[in-house]
Amino acid sequence: MDSDFKHHTLTMDNSNFNFSLINYSDLFKNCIEIVNKYQSNKNLALGEICRLLNEKIDFYDWVGFYFLNEDQKKLVLSSFAGKPTEHKEIPVGKGICGQVAKSSKSLIIDDVSKEKNYISCDIDVKSEIVVPIFVNGENFGQIDVDSRKINAFNKNDENFLKQINELISKNLF
Ligand code: SME
Repeated sequence: MDSDFKHHTLTMDNSNFNFSLINYSDLFKNCIEIVNKYQSNKNLALGEICRLLNEKIDFYDWVGFYFLNEDQKKLVLSSFAGKPTEHKEIPVGKGICGQVAKSSKSLIIDDVSKEKNYISCDIDVKSEIVVPIFVNGENFGQIDVDSRKINAFNKNDENFLKQINELISKNLF
């Protein structure tokens, strides 16, 4: 009995508890501070937000903003934190990002290996979330987060990223 209990304790996978340990409301306050501090420098503000999320949430392994070029029907990478990607431009409709650019609806992909319309930036990525940014009601771009953890994202991440996008939309554009 005693040794069974010890075994269980030792093999508990702490990664399942990441979620409850993150203080999303403190992180959102930090985003407000960043936006206030760098209001006159949009790129710096977006870069700082990417860095904050990438640093403080251990399963947010890549965080970036893509913005829509309506004329050319493509997304263009702006600020990001994580490994540099070759995919600095993504046609509307292609990949997870392109699908969100087209539908204006968030997407959570639990397992990218099962997604046919997917663009891989890093073979270690297992799941992804993309949430659109609206400026004056128009789809303007998106925040994209990749994780090396499968099933990393849920509705709470979506709501958190929506809040960040609203903050950015109202204060930086
Ligand atoms: N995986 C994305 C491409 C962007 S990278 O994740 C940075 C997609 O399928 O659209």
